[in-house]
Amino acid sequence: MPSVPSILVTRRLPDSVESALARDFGATLNSDDHPLTAAELQRGLAAYDIVLCTLTDRLTREVLEAGSGGVRLLANFGAGTNHIDLEAARRLGIVVTNTPGVLTDDTADLTMLLILATARRAREGARELRAGSWAGWRPTHLLGTRVSGATLGVVGFGRIGQAVAHRASAGFGMRVLYHSRRRATPEVEAACAATYVPVLESLLAQCDIVSLHCPATPATHHLIGASQLAAMRPTAFLVNTSRGDVIDELALVSALEEGRIAGAGLDVFEREPAVPEALRTLPNVYALPHLGSATTASRVAMGECALRNIAAYVRGDAPPNRVA
Ligand code: DGY
Repeated sequence: MPSVPSILVTRRLPDSVESALARDFGATLNSDDHPLTAAELQRGLAAYDIVLCTLTDRLTREVLEAGSGGVRLLANFGAGTNHIDLEAARRLGIVVTNTPGVLTDDTADLTMLLILATARRAREGARELRAGSWAGWRPTHLLGTRVSGATLGVVGFGRIGQAVAHRASAGFGMRVLYHSRRRATPEVEAACAATYVPVLESLLAQCDIVSLHCPATPATHHLIGASQLAAMRPTAFLVNTSRGDVIDELALVSALEEGRIAGAGLDVFEREPAVPEALRTLPNVYALPHLGSATTASRVAMGECALRNIAAYVRGDAPPNRVA
């Protein structure tokens, strides 16, 4: 690795991060912010030592193999790495890093927004107001579901799941249940006031709101499908700020259309940026375009974290957030 490696940055980043990349490494930036095609990615992998990539870059086995020989480090901007074939990267000797931890609070905050918006029918209310069709206050108008004191099920209990559990219990007096592959320590459970439920379907059956926080892996692909949705209460809401393919979207659409669950709050989708029409138009769906970490603070911190990983790698040290 040369002391000043060549770096390709695949998307626009906050100004301060781009300035540091340009100043310290003369990095090639993506000034028009277009998503790179597979061919552009392959050319970039072949031509640069380091690629600072993100979740819109589909770094499949084919793309990595076709571009191998050049790139040594994929410094991912983001915590999720399901868009990178990590196994292929390992085999090809490409190091992969991510940016965990710095977006936890903002993603947890946005989860609370989705919980509140779905349970309190914010979409229907805002739509009525904008259409000029609000007929005035009345006792039976747009009655929603009380969030305070409700039972929340957190599926996946990493940093973000724990941050949501903490907000829900400490801020909203919610009873929090959680399910994950591994049970958390008693200290973490106590700090989040959360109770472990070993069987997913049992958690689903007990909750007023279910919020998903597991990473996208082969084991979590369509973790929530028709039978899990059937285990939920018809009055319950499903919220997802993790990855779209944790839910079987077709099964979700059927459950929503048939009133088998009460509603959904979604920030992520199976085939982004494509979103099924039903999930864009159903009144009981509050959907956002993958905004979980979209604050200036998080995006700058993510960029700085990627820079730390790059700097460590270039110095010959272990990058702090190596995933492959
Ligand atoms: C991530 O870090 O993977 C998030 O999805 C970006 O918001």
